[in-house]
Amino acid sequence: MSLKSSIHSQNLPKHIAIIMDGNGRWAKEKGFLRVFGHENGTKSVSTTVESCAELGIENLTLYAFSTENWNRPKLEVKTLMQLLISSLKKEMNNLQKNSIRLNAIGNLEHLPERVRKELLHVIDKTKNNTHMTLTLALSYGSRDELVNATKQICDKVKNNIISVENI
Ligand code: FPP
Repeated sequence: MSLKSSIHSQNLPKHIAIIMDGNGRWAKEKGFLRVFGHENGTKSVSTTVESCAELGIENLTLYAFSTENWNRPKLEVKTLMQLLISSLKKEMNNLQKNSIRLNAIGNLEHLPERVRKELLHVIDKTKNNTHMTLTLALSYGSRDELVNATKQICDKVKNNIISVENI
């Protein structure tokens, strides 16, 4: 029995979130540079996205680049940003073909201009797709998210939009 035929379509989760990890270690183990692992990681992303769409998963979230990842060597960050742009360009047709809407979370304003531009372009082009939502978490961090949420709540209390009791 194939793996796909053993999956019960009624029992599938509505949302799958994946933390991308191990690209660098995988490449090092094979005697290659870490960036080779990232290049291959993009191929796994492509297969995962298509497979999830085929199975009928409604939401797929990929944690692709954390706030901490900005501390990596400059060349690695640059390669990751380039891979992001080329993947977005390459995947556009597949997203349209499979009616996948692209979404992004994180501090997108920290991304280099050319990355943000390509990202927003694909988000806009795919905004009416309905089969699956693919969310990329970019420049994203849980600590950062908590700090931002707390700031927003403080702001609303300060401006009498919500009361402390209603937090
Ligand atoms: C985790 O491996 C992977 C990353 C931090 C970056 C992944 C991002 C890309 C491949 C860019 C393209 C993204 C998309 C969504 C198309 P790691 O470097 O943490 O590996 P390690 O745990 O072995 O150090």
